[in-house]
Amino acid sequence: MAVNSAAIRWLGDHLQLLDQRCLPTETLWLDIRDSQQAADAIRNMVVRGAPAIGITAAYGLALEAQSMGNDASWVTLQNAVATLADSRPTAVNLFWALERLQRYAGDLQGKALAQALAEDAEAIHREDLAANQAMGEFGADLLPSGATVYTHCNTGALATGGHGTALGIIRSAWARNQLTGVFAGETRPWLQGSRLTSWELLNDGIPVTLVADSCAGQLMQQGKIQAVIVGADRITANGDTANKIGTYNLAVLAQHHNIPFIVAAPVSTLDPALPNGSHIVIEERDANEVRNVQGKSLAPEHCPVYNPAFDITPAQLITAIVTERGVVHCPDTAKINSHLAQTKES
Ligand code: MRU
Repeated sequence: MAVNSAAIRWLGDHLQLLDQRCLPTETLWLDIRDSQQAADAIRNMVVRGAPAIGITAAYGLALEAQSMGNDASWVTLQNAVATLADSRPTAVNLFWALERLQRYAGDLQGKALAQALAEDAEAIHREDLAANQAMGEFGADLLPSGATVYTHCNTGALATGGHGTALGIIRSAWARNQLTGVFAGETRPWLQGSRLTSWELLNDGIPVTLVADSCAGQLMQQGKIQAVIVGADRITANGDTANKIGTYNLAVLAQHHNIPFIVAAPVSTLDPALPNGSHIVIEERDANEVRNVQGKSLAPEHCPVYNPAFDITPAQLITAIVTERGVVHCPDTAKINSHLAQTKES
């Protein structure tokens, strides 16, 4: 059965991914037929955003099982699991999805295993959309009427199973007539803000103003921002949050200006196994992502570069974490624990 979202189409015997490297100028869909192609698409940013990476990994494993026919078993799939797990290190949703699929280990083989994996990948895809819609409502409740918000990176339909996390809150608040506008930081070096977030918001008719990342402080100083809303790639047991590089800068600025700093992420982004953010592996990406923009060189050819893809925002700087289960205000280990223990929204 086909399951479709803005950037991920499941067609039963293969996957199609919208190549996010080409947006907003070109709409190109790539066919993915096995786990290696899925891992390459994740590593090379054809697909990106923590939940979308997890969904893609799940389909990638299902495709690998399909291609193995009668030989498919959890044991014969271990190379594919390792290949997918090696694609990007920081977003925990990737590992969460692979671990979830492990529930079929031992019980099923061959076509039955392939079918179970595909059905669960579809469930992960659908559940993420539902989680984002719930998160959108919980998050919108936190915003004052007429708010203008600032967001970073891309956390929208392109990055998830649909609607989005931080962008989902923005969409829900806009639908309630609660929002005046959105400032989107361009998100150097990969430009998720300018290439993807502004594109999604303009397509939805939500008033967005694109700014250079370095503009955030001035906007806050001028009183133009009522909340900062971002996504997450991994949230540790104490609430420390890994997200796109530059998120920490925004949290420090928000605290200085007494502006709420809201993190939106599904429960699949919580990693209670890690006590705090110092344990998170931060991906470092190719130097040319910083030296070049769209293939055009902007720096001396061999200039040394430091290119971490993510940073850690300490829990103390976070006003609230919003998941599909509700809101954790001023997060700490005890509150995250009890949030995880509850089965439905607070
Ligand atoms: O490098 P990316 O584009 O995968 O980074 C994405 C982010 O940092 C997002 O904020 C995060 O994954 C949440 S997406 C709903």
